[in-house]
Amino acid sequence: MKIADYAKHLLLAPNLEDKLVPPPKHWEEDGETKSLRIEKPGRSLHLQFSDKKVKIPRLEHLNSESNRGLTLHHFANHELMAIELFAWALLAFPDAPKSIRNGWIKTIEEEQVHFRMYLNRMNDFGVQIGDIPLNYIFWKQLGQFQTLESFSAVMSLSFEGANLDYSQVYAKVFSFFDDHITSDIMVYIFEDEIKHVKRGVRAFEKSIPNEKNSWEHYLSLIHFPFTPRRAKGYLFFPETRYLAGLDANFVKQLADYEDEYTGRVNLESVKKFGLGSELMRKNRLDSHSIQP
Ligand SMILES: [Fe+2]
Ligand SMILES: [Fe+2]
Repeated sequence: MKIADYAKHLLLAPNLEDKLVPPPKHWEEDGETKSLRIEKPGRSLHLQFSDKKVKIPRLEHLNSESNRGLTLHHFANHELMAIELFAWALLAFPDAPKSIRNGWIKTIEEEQVHFRMYLNRMNDFGVQIGDIPLNYIFWKQLGQFQTLESFSAVMSLSFEGANLDYSQVYAKVFSFFDDHITSDIMVYIFEDEIKHVKRGVRAFEKSIPNEKNSWEHYLSLIHFPFTPRRAKGYLFFPETRYLAGLDANFVKQLADYEDEYTGRVNLESVKKFGLGSELMRKNRLDSHSIQP
């Protein structure tokens, strides 16, 4: 199979099973170098984009299984969009270096695993995909993806970066409520997402001009109303960004960044749990725990 045909299949075929077809081990030569920017993915009826606002359950309500299932539905939706958008990037940037394109393929494979992990676990809690409306927050940024650097700045340094914070918060809160299976899933995904942000850093750092530092370059690649606020959670774990290969100045600037959209509500609610700043890592998972 050719990479372009595989990417088109993930993007345009409507059913979930189509989006979860893993990448083949061997590729035929593509030969195609024309950039293709697909505006919207194919989605079956129950996977359609929705503008309805659905709030993610509050952390203090995650003692209930249905709220845990609904929370995982939100996360599964992010994974689905990531699968599609990394496929989108393969089609939009056919001239990107091979190492970066291979990284996107690896990321797709891992996002598919994450999607299945969330799906299986939310099913345990009685929630099916499509039970609540699916937002399209990542797809809304399509206008920003002019270059592979801006794509990486938004998708990897920002959205996947923020996910490093959120996966830590949720790993800790699920564990607080004694749901160690779901907590372990969050830690497993956290470890993969470090690699994803790292791939984004590699795609982005090559283009930093001499007169700019990485933070200034990042700011030049994202466009209002998208701001660096999207690159972190309401709790920020700076160590996670070092693990992903970001430099000290970038991490400090991101830590200090605030704008009028900075939320306080969740931060107050998260404080009640006294989560601490120590990271939960995969090497603490014992042998019986989750397999993808
Ligand atoms: Fe993921
Ligand atoms: Fe990811």
